[in-house]
Amino acid sequence: MTILVTGGAGFIGSNFVQNFIKSTDEMVVNVDLLTYAGNGENLASLENNSRHIFVKGDIGDYDLLSNLMCSHLPRAVLNFAAESHVDRSILAPDKFIKTNVLGTFNLLKCAQQYWDNSVGSEHFDFKFLHVSTDEVYGSLGPNDSPFTESHRYTPNSPYSASKAASDHFVRAWHHTYGLPVLTTNCSNNYGPYQFPEKLIPLVILNALQGEEIPVYGDGMQIRDWLHVNDHCSAISAVLKSGQAGEVYNVGGDSEVSNIEVVIKICKILDEMLPSIKGRYSRLISFVKDRPGHDRRYSINNRKIKKELGWRPVESFESGLRKTVKWYLNNKLWVKNVQSGSYRDWIKSQYNQDSKHR
Ligand code: NAD
Ligand code: TYD
Repeated sequence: MTILVTGGAGFIGSNFVQNFIKSTDEMVVNVDLLTYAGNGENLASLENNSRHIFVKGDIGDYDLLSNLMCSHLPRAVLNFAAESHVDRSILAPDKFIKTNVLGTFNLLKCAQQYWDNSVGSEHFDFKFLHVSTDEVYGSLGPNDSPFTESHRYTPNSPYSASKAASDHFVRAWHHTYGLPVLTTNCSNNYGPYQFPEKLIPLVILNALQGEEIPVYGDGMQIRDWLHVNDHCSAISAVLKSGQAGEVYNVGGDSEVSNIEVVIKICKILDEMLPSIKGRYSRLISFVKDRPGHDRRYSINNRKIKKELGWRPVESFESGLRKTVKWYLNNKLWVKNVQSGSYRDWIKSQYNQDSKHR
C-alpha cells in the first residue's frame, strides 16, 4: 500500500514520514516544493530507502499531482504542505493564499477526480487527511474554555485565515462531493528538525550563539505545546480510525506562557552546556509585539482521546529536554539551515531598532 504525503520535507511532515516508514511496510510518495522551510537533510535517514519516493513539486500543480495519484494509487493523501510562519504571513501574505488556500483547493480537485475514478478498496478505503492548526479558532481569554471541534472559527493572522479557508474547502469537498476527508487541528509543535524561525529552536540557537533572545510584548502569551512525535501518532490514529468528515483537535494539555518556555530552555542549557559568560537568561530581550498577536491557545483533546484512544507520550518537560539535546547534537544540520536566506530573515525581522520596546 502507498500513501501520498505533501510537505514531507518540512518539520512535521519529515518527522511523520520517518515515523511512518519505521512503523509500517507501506510506500510513501513525498511531494514537497522545497521552499526555505523544506530541507532534504530532514530526510537523510531515508536516502537509500526504496519505500520513500521524493518528488520536488508544488501542490498547486494539477497535472503533477493527478499523475502521481494515478500512477501510485495511494490509499490516502496527507496534506502537510503549507506556508507556516505567522510573522512571514504578516510581512508577505501572498504565498500563504497561494499555497495554503489555492494549493489545498488544487489537491482536493486532484483527489476528488482520482477517488471518483477509482474502484474497489482503492475507492472505499481512500482518505484525504488535512493537517491544520488550532490557530483557526482565534484567541482565548485567560478564563475561556479550551477549543473544542465546534468552536467558532475566528482566525486573526493571514496565516490562520489561510488555514481556516483551506479547512472550509476540505469540509465542503466532503459535504458536496462526498470525498472522505479528515481534518486535524493541532496546537504548537516542537521537536527535531523544526526550522529555527519558530520560538523554541530560535531560543535554543540564539542562546547557544550568544545572541539576544527576543520575547514579543510582555511574553505572557500562552501556547499549548505538543511534541511532534505525539502529533504524528495522532495523525496516524486519525488516518487509521477517524470517521470521514470529522475534525479532531490535537493538543498535549501543556499550556505554557512564552516567557516560561524561554526560561525553561535557558535553565536546561545552563545545566547541559554552562556558559562561561553566565546564565543564558541574561540574553532575554523584550521586543516589540507581533501585530494582532493571539493571547492564548488551548486545546480540548477529549474527542481524539475518547474516540481513538490517542494519548501524548511526552510531557513538556521531557520533550523539551530531548529537543534541546537534539539541537546540541545536530550541529551540521543547524549550520546548514542557518545559511544565507535564514540570516536575511533574522536580520529583517529582529535587527530593526524600532523592534525594541
Ligand atoms: P514547515 O514550514 O516546517 O514545512 C512546510 C513544508 O511544506 C516545507 O517542506 C515546504 O517546502 C513545503 N511546501 C510549502 N509550500 C509548498 C507547495 N506549494 N507545494 C509543496 N510543498 C510546499 O511547516 P510544519 O511546521 O511542518 O507544518 C506542517 C503542517 O502542519 C502545516 O500545514 C501547518 O499549518 C500545520 N501545523 C503546524 C504546527 C506547528 O506548530 N508547526 C501546528 C499545527 C499545525
Ligand atoms: P511561533 O513559534 O512563531 O508559533 P505561533 O506564532 O504559530 O504560535 O511563536 C510561538 C509564540 O512565541 C508566539 O506567541 C510568538 C512568540 N515568539 C516570540 O515571543 N519571539 C519570537 O522571536 C518568536 C519567533 C515567537
